[in-house]
Order: sequence, then structure tokens, then C-alpha cells
Amino acid sequence: MPVSEEGFAPVPPAAVPEEPRHTDFQLVRVKSTWCRIKKGEAISDSEDKITLSEAKIPDAQSTKEEDNDFKPCFPIPRRGECVSKSGISWTIEAPIYFCYKVVETYNILDPSNTTLLWGHITDPQQLELATSGKKRLRRFIVIDEVVDELYGSKVRQYFEENNVQHKILSLPTTEETKSMDLVLNILQEVQNFSIDRRTEPIIAIGGGVCLDIVGLAASLYRRRTPYIRVPTTLLSYVDASVGAKNGVNFLQCKNKLGGYTPPVASFLDRSFIQSIPRRHISNGLGEILKMALMKHKGLFDLLKSHGKYLLDTKFQSCSGSADHGDAALQTTRIAIETMLEELAPNLWEDDLDRLVDFGHLISPELEMRVLPSLMHGEAVNIDMAFMTYVAHTRGLLSAGEKEQIIQCMRGLELPVWHSGCSWALIKTALRERLKHSGGQPRMPLPTGLGVADIFNDTSEETLERAYKLWFIQISKKKKLLSAFALSTGEWHTAGETKMAQFTPVLPVNQGELQARAAEMAWAPPQGGLLGASPAWAAPSPPQGFQVGEASWEMEKPGGSQPFHHLLQPP
Ligand SMILES: NC(=O)c1ccc[n+]([C@@H]2O[C@H](COP(=O)([O-])OP(=O)(O)OC[C@H]3O[C@@H](n4cnc5c(N)ncnc54)[C@H](O)[C@@H]3O)[C@@H](O)[C@H]2O)c1
Ligand SMILES: [Zn+2]
Repeated sequence: MPVSEEGFAPVPPAAVPEEPRHTDFQLVRVKSTWCRIKKGEAISDSEDKITLSEAKIPDAQSTKEEDNDFKPCFPIPRRGECVSKSGISWTIEAPIYFCYKVVETYNILDPSNTTLLWGHITDPQQLELATSGKKRLRRFIVIDEVVDELYGSKVRQYFEENNVQHKILSLPTTEETKSMDLVLNILQEVQNFSIDRRTEPIIAIGGGVCLDIVGLAASLYRRRTPYIRVPTTLLSYVDASVGAKNGVNFLQCKNKLGGYTPPVASFLDRSFIQSIPRRHISNGLGEILKMALMKHKGLFDLLKSHGKYLLDTKFQSCSGSADHGDAALQTTRIAIETMLEELAPNLWEDDLDRLVDFGHLISPELEMRVLPSLMHGEAVNIDMAFMTYVAHTRGLLSAGEKEQIIQCMRGLELPVWHSGCSWALIKTALRERLKHSGGQPRMPLPTGLGVADIFNDTSEETLERAYKLWFIQISKKKKLLSAFALSTGEWHTAGETKMAQFTPVLPVNQGELQARAAEMAWAPPQGGLLGASPAWAAPSPPQGFQVGEASWEMEKPGGSQPFHHLLQPP
């Protein structure tokens, strides 16, 4: 039996391989020393306090030494070690335990509400110790600039009235600034403030961007400094606050740098949501709808029947609205619970089959490509709309179910299409997905209303059929010259002339384009083709066509300006 898999210890062909001996060793602390004992072995009587660790150093591979030709030149291995030609190895299994709280609270900025100060402490003894201490409390707070304008005075008053020495760092935390620069900026200020990482959690108050940036900064500072999340948007209330992830964008890629360090607590107060614009409510509803479509028909029904009400009331519970019950409360609770069910057993995403990835296969590429035109939840919804068509094309959803989903999305005032979501982009995004999901697409798809499964066998042909159907049905502009009327491209200048280069979003060939052009009695304008086929150059919109979306004004004369547009026939 060879010692290692390299096979350097010859084994006679007829030899029956001997089972490796498996012995688990656990670690116990006696006095202040950790030592190994065999699992199940009695621990000798001792007056000293004994602590048993869940960490193990299993002895999985070592075999009888006398059977090996290989004579190690190292010391004879001890239990729990494995000898091979290249040396001795140890395999360590050390479970890491996380405990964090997600707390719904009201009036979090009322100075008499101590949640923000002590709410993260679970252990009563620790709480007693912390609240009875003589030392003045200190807190470092990072707040989104817009939130600071709206709530900053209340935040300051809160800490002043509670006699907390504090530093409030107000930052422009937007998707465009979600970068390592901001993380370093925060870390510099944290260092200047000099926090005690055992007892002074960093507090983040803002939307998902702010929470993600601060989470990353905290997890880097002295390797892991506790932090608290206070979400102020709907999206961050139901999504960014409940899991372990944090991160920033890097090299134009969404959340490319980040980690899985949960906060010590997330404190959710719905009253912040009243000041976010209506569009941002829809944005958050996108992530809620994701959970509804994946695993909760009741939540889907709630969104269908109360969506408009939730948008109108901005998730503030209103008395005298018996018809709607407390739709806001129910919606957020179910969204959080379903999200936690999926996240908690898989905090580090070791299992790549994740239903919560629904809406997140195409959207990262799309969101970054068209930044800042789509918000996160909007991009997610466009992805979900396309995937709904994929599910339908695969026969997983009936036409009626597909229609109900799309109608629900429209009711929540979410976009179900974006011209930047070209077929080419979808293919690129799915290729990117493969790289990060173990070579399988692991595509979550609805298999009914509120039920779903993960699929690895959706063919490109199915995806393309779904894309065409999606485009034709959603754009509802049947008379569009679909081949080139819906296009994406860039402005260029050629001498004095403004030129636009079109790249059709649909997978069409040049012949098809020419045929469609002839059909509509419109020939490619003078100048003909520009760039690789199929692409067009036009100094102005084709005769008789109007621009349906976006502007034909060149914003940066002399430069090149990406644009997306729809041309409508007369
Ligand atoms: N970590 C996670 O698990 C997780 C999950 C989902 C999303 N995210 C991330 O969250 C981000 C999106 O979060 P978001 O939608 O909250 O966007 P956001 O943080 O950019 O906030 C949107 C805008 O709302 C403003 N704002 C915030 N609170 C406000 C309030 N109470 N009143 C008025 N304006 C307010 C902000 O200034 C900002 O301009 C994305 O970067 C996404 O990657 C992370
Ligand atoms: Zn998301």
C-alpha cells in the first residue's frame, strides 16, 4: 500500500490494498496547552479546567510503516501525521462558528433605544459587563452621504445623548465609488480613531453599497473587526443585511473583491425606507420577488396583490388599511426568513447550487456594462425576466404562469427588458458564470409559481429561442425592424459628421439584415457598413425612423459615447 498517491511505494499487482487506518484526534486544552487525544479516549482526571475543541487533526492516510519501502529521513511520524516522499503533512479540520443577529427594531435613532449600542451582544454576562463598565463608550460610524443629509443630525444627537465618544465618517457610497479606494479611506480613518476591536464595533448606516464597503473594511482591519449594519434602503433591508457577504467592485467587475464575514448584527428599521425614491422601492422589490419566485408562492401572491400599495406607502405600515393587512411587515419578514433559510446553511457558498443566484447570472455583466443606468435590483429583474422566458421555453412554466410573472414585475414597476441586454452580452455573462461555478451553469429556474430548481442542461439553442421570444413579446413593437432597429453601439466622429455605429442585439446574419432593410424600403445610409458585420454607420437616424429610447445628441463631441436606443418605424 503506497504511502501517498504519487505511487512511489511499489505494490505487488495481486496485493489486496490495505484499508488506511482512520483515527480522529481531537484537541483538548488542559491548563493553557492544547494537545491531541484520540477521539473517545478518556481524559485523565484532573482538577484543571478542560476544554474540548471541535477542531480535529484526522489521521486519514498513514499506514503501517513497516510495509513501506520508503524510509523517511525525518523523525518517525507522530499520530495525526502523514508521511510521503515529499515530507510530512497534517490535515486540519477546524469548524469556524459564526453567530450574528438580524434584529427588526423601531425608532433606532431614538436616544432611549439602546439597540444600536448593545443590541449585538447576545451573552447576558457580557452585556452586564459592557453596560456596567466605567469606560466611556466609543463608536466609529460610516454613513452614506445622502443618508447623512437626511438623518445625520439624529445620528449625532443619538450618540451625544448617550455620551458616546464618536466619529462619523460621511462618504459618497455609490456603485461607481464602490471600490478599494473607499475601503482604504475608511481604514485610514479607523486607524486615526484607534478603536478597540474587541468592544467597539464599526457601524455602517446606508444602502447596500455602504454596507458592503464597510463590511470589507471591517473584515480587513486587524484581520476581523466586528461591525454592525443599519440598512437604509429596501434592497439592503431584505438582502445585503441578512447574509455574510461584503465586497467592492474591481477592474469593472461587480463585487470582485470581498469576503464572507458576517456582521455581529444587522439592525433593521423600516422607517428609513420612507425617504427613498419610488424607483428604489421597486429596486428592493426585485430582490424580494426573487425569493418569491424561487420558494414562496404566498410571497408572490402578496406582491401581486399588494405591490402597488407597498410602492405607494413605501413599506410604512399604515393604520386603517385593513385590506392590505400589514403587507409591509409580512413581505419583509417572509423575504428575510426565506433568504436566511438559503444563506445560513451555506454562508461561505461552498455549495454552488444556490437558488438565491436567480437573477444574478446575467445581471452582474449587464449592471456594470450600463452603469449607472440600472440599479442592482433592476438589473436582477431583467435577468429574472429573461430566465422566466428560458423556463417557459424549456416547458417548466406555462404561458399563463410566465405572463403572471411578467405582469407582477410590471406591477412592481420593474424593468423587464433593457436594450443593453444583447444576446452577445448574455453569452458573455454565461461564459463568465461557468468560470466561477465549477464549470456548470447551475441555473436556477422557476418550475412553477414559488417553486424552482437548478439546471445544468439548458442548451444554447433554447436560450436563443427564449431570447427571441422575450424580445418580440416584451418590446411589443411588432413592426420594428428587429434585426437592426434594436441596437446598441457607439458614437464616433468622422470629420465633421457624427456617426453612429449600430450593432444589432439580435443574432442575425448580414443577409437577414439586408432582407429586412429591403422589406422596410430602407437601404443602409451612405457610408455603408462600418466595422465588422453586422454593423451599420449612419450620420442620423434612418429616414422615417424616430428614436424611441435614449438620445441622439452626442454628449462628448470628438469622443465616443456608448448608447443604447430603439428605433421606431414611422
Ligand atoms: N452583501 C450582500 O449580500 C448584498 C446583497 C444584495 C446587494 N448587495 C449590494 O448592494 C448594492 C445595492 O444596494 P442599494 O440598492 O441599497 O443601493 P445604494 O447603496 O447605492 O443606495 C442607493 C441610493 O440610495 C441613497 N439612499 C440610501 N438610503 C437612503 C434613504 N433612507 N433615503 C434616501 N436615499 C437613500 C444612497 O445615497 C444611494 O444613492 C449593490 O452594490 C449590491 O452589490 C449586496
Ligand atoms: Zn442581488
